[in-house]
Amino acid sequence: MPHTYLISGTSRGLGLGLVRYLLSSSKQTKVIAGVRNPSSAIDLQSLVDDFGNERLHLLKLDVENAVENALADLESSGFLGDGGLDTLIANAGISNALPPPSETTPELVQANLNVNLYGVMNLVTSSLPLLRKGQAKQIFAVSSTVGSLGGLFSENSLYTAYCMSKTILNMYMRKLSVELKEEGFTVVMYSPGFVKTDLTGGYGDMDVEQAVKLGVENVIRKVTKADNGKFLDVDGSVAPW
Ligand SMILES: NC(=O)c1ccc[n+]([C@@H]2O[C@H](COP(=O)([O-])OP(=O)(O)OC[C@H]3O[C@@H](n4cnc5c(N)ncnc54)[C@H](OP(=O)(O)O)[C@@H]3O)[C@@H](O)[C@H]2O)c1
Repeated sequence: MPHTYLISGTSRGLGLGLVRYLLSSSKQTKVIAGVRNPSSAIDLQSLVDDFGNERLHLLKLDVENAVENALADLESSGFLGDGGLDTLIANAGISNALPPPSETTPELVQANLNVNLYGVMNLVTSSLPLLRKGQAKQIFAVSSTVGSLGGLFSENSLYTAYCMSKTILNMYMRKLSVELKEEGFTVVMYSPGFVKTDLTGGYGDMDVEQAVKLGVENVIRKVTKADNGKFLDVDGSVAPW
């Protein structure tokens, strides 16, 4: 039985890597790749050539704007047939706020929240009807251990607004896991590791290929309903809040 994923932020970085790995590692996988500018997404277009448009559908999706319309476009595209979505991966994110707390402005916090929190909320709300129609009923948010207030709290005082956005995201997702539990959903936040992408300026412990393989095999394809509400690290272990 095919398993259908909707992933946001797939033009580059981890999102693009997830699309490529999910499609290449299982013939049963179908992916809707959310992307702000499909016409300039050369790497995604070549994945459509490789895997075929019956397995990969590019969906114009900006998580800050008109997300409901984008999901309506998906429904009317015919890509889903009579089925729904199995798994949502809310991956799109930004980190454009370097300053420490004393120089962090409300505007910087707002800019990070617009994508990293409100973008996820928009996506969840608009996708829920299709996720309810699907079999797996899974929602993942790509969070970060930089949002940890406890065991993995970072003593680095920079990127305050970004860290704050991930802490609040985790609270939203955890509350969501409580609400959707009775319907059989699995709602999980996971940290993808420190990965060499544009977001980190190319710094990291892993390249995208390594990170997405670990994330998919240890988290995305491994979780069960018993993991609902957990914050997981890329090795599958439970991360501290
Ligand atoms: N890299 C790491 O070490 C690391 C660590 C922890 C967590 N994360 C998280 O992992 C996720 C992916 O990060 P990444 O490292 O792959 O970053 P990236 O290479 O900078 O890619 C970010 C992606 O998000 C998209 N995006 C940004 N704003 C968007 C919006 N409003 N609507 C839709 N898409 C939007 C970008 O699209 P455009 O090309 O159109 O801008 C791009 O595809 C983020 O949530 C990030 O916080 C990353």
